[in-house]
Amino acid sequence: NMATRPLIAGNWKMNGTGAGIEELARLKTLLEEAGTVESDIVVCPPATLIHRAAQTVEGGPIRIGGQDCHSSVNGAHTGDISAAMLLDAGASHVILGHSERRADHGETDSIVRSKCEAALSGGLIPIVCVGETETERGEGNANQVVAEQLRGSLPEHFGNTPIVVAYEPIWAIGTGKTATPADIEEMHGHIRELLIERFGRSGEAARLLYGGSVKSDNAGTILSTPNVNGALVGGASLKANDFFSIIVAA
Ligand code: G3P
Repeated sequence: NMATRPLIAGNWKMNGTGAGIEELARLKTLLEEAGTVESDIVVCPPATLIHRAAQTVEGGPIRIGGQDCHSSVNGAHTGDISAAMLLDAGASHVILGHSERRADHGETDSIVRSKCEAALSGGLIPIVCVGETETERGEGNANQVVAEQLRGSLPEHFGNTPIVVAYEPIWAIGTGKTATPADIEEMHGHIRELLIERFGRSGEAARLLYGGSVKSDNAGTILSTPNVNGALVGGASLKANDFFSIIVAA
């Protein structure tokens, strides 16, 4: 693995109110008590909590991310949030093209790509999600599907911004099923090759996160798989203790 520190990101999805902020404060305390942290840590709460979350983690190792942004800087887009707004609220990262947004909001690769460009020009680090369905994997098309998503969803240039890609096989999200270490190793190797082909050294340095039912009991194995440079954690990121044990496993 060329990338140095692992990145452990939590995606709260549409979960969390004020009680979530208390969990975040607990996580901060747990990390303080543990001492040196060997990973970069990002928590992505719903947009309503970003500002409070950023204030809560101030002075500690946790960074805050959004779960989506619009491709425009501002304007007549009711309900949407721009990269500049996320940054202003205290976020440094943003998850883009999550399979739930692709499914619920019809986000195509080219939409994800425009959002990614907006995030980069807005000064955020995008975490771009890709992943195949169970049927696509069953038909032997997983590699091809993911290659296509990467081709369409990533912009031409990342400038000096680090590249972060999350591989989340859709059938492993929230199901308790994870891909086998062999499958993860194969897919991450494939993604690495594609990124090197396209981005050269930045592709070598890109962080490839695995997502899909990562828990404290499988995190160690998953995170020691070649070309896995971190994890994108859903359900297990909601409770400070669970997320902390994943961070420790890294
Ligand atoms: O973005 C993370 C996510 O999709 C994985 O969710 O609950 O399976 O860890 P979960």
